[in-house]
Amino acid sequence: MPRSASILSTGAYLPSRVLSNADLEKMVDTSDEWILSRTGIRERRIAADDEFTSDMGAAAARQALELGGINPKDIDLIIVATCTPDTVFPSTACYIQQKIGATRAAAFDVQAACSGFLYALVTASQFISSGVYKTILVIGAEKLSSIVNWQDRNTCVLFGDGAGAVVLQHRPGARGLLAFDLGADGSQTEILSVPASGCRVPITPAVLDQRLQFLQMSGKEVFKYAVNAMNRSSEICLENAGCKPDQIRWFIPHQANQRIVDAVATRMNVGLDRFVINLERYGNTSAACMPIALHETSMLGKFNRGDLLLMVSFGGGLTWASTVLEW
Ligand code: UT7
Repeated sequence: MPRSASILSTGAYLPSRVLSNADLEKMVDTSDEWILSRTGIRERRIAADDEFTSDMGAAAARQALELGGINPKDIDLIIVATCTPDTVFPSTACYIQQKIGATRAAAFDVQAACSGFLYALVTASQFISSGVYKTILVIGAEKLSSIVNWQDRNTCVLFGDGAGAVVLQHRPGARGLLAFDLGADGSQTEILSVPASGCRVPITPAVLDQRLQFLQMSGKEVFKYAVNAMNRSSEICLENAGCKPDQIRWFIPHQANQRIVDAVATRMNVGLDRFVINLERYGNTSAACMPIALHETSMLGKFNRGDLLLMVSFGGGLTWASTVLEW
């Protein structure tokens, strides 16, 4: 029997600056009414100028380590899911390794946009199952405000900054991560991307003028794809786990748009009371959504030992991911 990976503890960090829909009304041609009715978002957090993805990730990690009673020196591996790394390289995981004093840990980043945290969680679980590593820190951290085009009302109202972290270990007797589904469709790279700043379109004055260093999205196309992919992936994952939706206590969907969550819940025939939703307060924090939601719900005492959690994500790539996990 492979050793399963369980979540020992969680942490989260949200920057203190709140950007409300009313604030956005002063920046672009939008309204609180439009944002709330089309997305469900009321406000989002924005990191300070000198606060980076690694700072937020390290803060979330420190909390997860403290709650789990783990010494940073006992961490074997740090995986950071982010599409807004501090630098192209070194990886954000290396900056965090230094910040938290995890001197023994290997460290690398995973890039699967909004699906990144679940990709990282599944990757980490393989090291635990194989017995190679005992304690792994998995972090989702994003400073999306640094890649948002603050002149584009189609996208700037959607995103926020933040970080979440989990400590993974094998817990004897616990089933932990029961099943997963990971997927990608590289034929759809265009509908959600940051066109410039990689080697494909290097930064030049002309590129900056065209604002190609910022996130671009065909919202409607992404929306439709997201609903289908999240449903399909959840179904595959449930089948892999050998369980039915009514056995799942908590559904944790990617926090992009309340209407996407509603559509997923309706298709699965599951009441919204079993969905964890915090997008009205934080907007879409990409790879950070999932661990922030996990931490907040866990802190509220809503998860009980033995509860089954279905997490499902969707993002640029396009990518999607789901996991069934026993708390
Ligand atoms: O995390 C990665 C995954 N990302 C997502 O899942 C996001 C998926 N997409 C969405 O959530 C939605 O498509 C949006 C929230 C981005 C947009 O909602 P929509 O209902 O698809 O609106 P739309 O793009 O079709 O725009 C409808 C109208 C347009 O005006 P016209 O052309 O009908 O005159 C837009 O220009 O709403 C306009 N609009 C806005 N109006 C006020 C777009 N953004 C805004 C805005 N404020 N912020």
